[in-house]
Amino acid sequence: MSGTRYVGNLQNGDRVKISSDSPNKSIVISGISGTGKSQRICDLEKNIIAEGSTVIVLDLDGSHYNVGNENIISAREDGIALNFLDVKILNKPSDEISEYQAEIANLLLSVTKAGDRQRALLRDTILWALKHKNNFENDFSAIETGLEEIGTEKALGVRDKIWPLLKCRVFRESKKTIQKGKVNVISFESFDTDLTKVLVEIFLKNLWKEARRMKENKITVVIDEFQNLILGRKSSIEQILREGRKYGIDILLATQTLATFSKATLVALNQAAVRLYFRPAVSETKMLAQQIDGTNVERLILTLKHLKVGESVAIGDLEIAGKHIERPIVVRTDYRKKNGYDIRR
Ligand SMILES: Nc1ncnc2c1ncn2[C@@H]1O[C@H](COP(=O)(O)OP(=O)(O)O)[C@@H](O)[C@H]1O
Ligand SMILES: [Mg+2]
Repeated sequence: MSGTRYVGNLQNGDRVKISSDSPNKSIVISGISGTGKSQRICDLEKNIIAEGSTVIVLDLDGSHYNVGNENIISAREDGIALNFLDVKILNKPSDEISEYQAEIANLLLSVTKAGDRQRALLRDTILWALKHKNNFENDFSAIETGLEEIGTEKALGVRDKIWPLLKCRVFRESKKTIQKGKVNVISFESFDTDLTKVLVEIFLKNLWKEARRMKENKITVVIDEFQNLILGRKSSIEQILREGRKYGIDILLATQTLATFSKATLVALNQAAVRLYFRPAVSETKMLAQQIDGTNVERLILTLKHLKVGESVAIGDLEIAGKHIERPIVVRTDYRKKNGYDIRR
């Protein structure tokens, strides 16, 4: 997994790249609204496909800028072809099957308040659906019928809790597929945030499974405003950050603030090869300066405060013309009004 990846330019035009010996190619971007994060993301995407990699943007609200020649897949209109329940698990030892049932049940219930009894019911239903999925058009109707077969008030209560998921029909046969070497934008626009959270996690879980199976991949997942998604040790996002490079998959994440994340998530985010700090909220500036470089806090505070739109402080595994850069540097992109990216639609 060598090869360098473009990060941006210095003021004098020198190209800053991820160093070739970096353990991964993931990038985490932070900065308040309007500081140029999303524009930079498009710039990075163009460079990533120019390297021959495939970009998969999970566009949570349809706000991804137009990069030209992208393959747009609407989760609602086009659907996403994906095999949700994995019947191969049934050939595994029983403890692995139970673990799988719990994992899927917890995933489906992750944005709801469900009691232990309801979780247990859904775990049983997952097993039922695995065994009967061939009789159904899709895995979600198998789960729905499974709960209706049990038929108790509790079971129907679970069905109602996950109703939006059972009925959204996102995961179905689709004419659209991910195209290699392109920017693919999967839009979750028009779904509410809770449903989007679960849909994205299901998508990423599947991508992760496929990537591990295929080994040779060159995929970058891009998620702007990722802070509301499912995080935590077992989440796909943190797994990709930790182990993605083994399977040739990396991630480009952006958020307005880092203040809302748990310590464990911050540790995972720090595994990214590079962090780009666009201008932060005043209240976060000092804390970030300390994290970036504890020996130069006052100067960094000034640098962060005075970042212009499109500028960011970069730290991590960086190189310029093959030379490692150890200190934080200010990185930008050539941006002229006419080559900025437009809003889609
Ligand atoms: N590198 C840049 N140089 C000058 N202006 C920029 C640059 N990047 C973005 N902008 C301007 O700032 C606006 C906000 O940029 P955007 O990337 O959407 O910010 P964010 O995602 O941080 O909210 C853009 O519409 C554009 O007008
Ligand atoms: Mg933005």
